[in-house]
Amino acid sequence: MADDTDIACGTGKEGQFNLHGNAPVVDITNLWTKFGRTVVHQDLNLEIERGEILSIVGGSGTGKTVLLRQMLGLEHPARGCVKVFGEDINKASSDQLQQLRNHWGMLFQQGALYSALTVFDNVAQPMRELRVLPEALVHDAVLLKMNMVGLGPEHALKMPSDLSGGMIKRVALARALALEPKLLFLDEPTAGLDPDLSESFVALIQSLHRELGLTVVMVTHDLDTLFALSTRIAVLAEKHVIAIGPTREVIEVDHPFIKQFFLGDRGKRALAVLDEKQAAGKAAQPGGDAGTDKKAEK
Ligand SMILES: Nc1ncnc2c1ncn2[C@@H]1O[C@H](COP(=O)(O)OP(=O)(O)OP(=O)(O)O)[C@@H](O)[C@H]1O
Ligand SMILES: [Mg+2]
Repeated sequence: MADDTDIACGTGKEGQFNLHGNAPVVDITNLWTKFGRTVVHQDLNLEIERGEILSIVGGSGTGKTVLLRQMLGLEHPARGCVKVFGEDINKASSDQLQQLRNHWGMLFQQGALYSALTVFDNVAQPMRELRVLPEALVHDAVLLKMNMVGLGPEHALKMPSDLSGGMIKRVALARALALEPKLLFLDEPTAGLDPDLSESFVALIQSLHRELGLTVVMVTHDLDTLFALSTRIAVLAEKHVIAIGPTREVIEVDHPFIKQFFLGDRGKRALAVLDEKQAAGKAAQPGGDAGTDKKAEK
């Protein structure tokens, strides 16, 4: 890792977490990431606005997961600045980092759950780590979060090995929502799910986004999920964000990766499906995600 001074954000707005203002929720400037001699990110800039669902796309190995891990303070860049809620994540003390963690939830690409813990204990884990909630409250809150993601109490004592792929994602999402985050990170949330399960997961994220006013940062290769959920898309290629904006604008950008990623047969099919859904949604107002049977709690 580079000298500390290389990853400072400069002076200015640090101090309190900016949970409600207009400043970007995540603000990344001039970020460089290196592993040995390999440069993964080079002068990368990315701003994520409050309340949006920003999807990050890019080829395999372009550094999407690493970028999420840098936003979470789990990895540090060689250079550049990463601010989350206005706080310089690379300068935050362990107390500040813990406070930040209480405001975000993360659904990891791999290894979503603790295999030795029940569903209940997996969801309870972030609350128990806080060490301030009495167990009776934890109990109620866990069942509430499970309900939020469409899991009844009958699943509470199951072990992860007894669950289907879709249920594992739901439990992991319930855990990510345990502390009522303002910011949710999703790394390939629908990978490995069949189309029906993907669709119901998308509907679930849509309803949570709407009901809880979350900001969502998602990495996905799944074009159906991408088109259905994103308010903006950021394209990672050539070691930086080559395009960012609303879906329709980004897919028009004349770049070989964008053309190959969005405008192949898969992309055209996904866009056609989106067009159909939007037309149907307009015809049957209000909605757009009438497919959801899950109700999020306030
Ligand atoms: N701890 C590490 N040490 C060395 N190299 C690493 C490390 N973590 C990631 N890399 C490398 O950094 C690059 C980006 O990895 P990353 O996992 O972020 O890719 P990705 O865009 O998420 O890919 P995918 O779409 O396959 O999930 C890869 O070449 C990877 O091998
Ligand atoms: Mg990845």
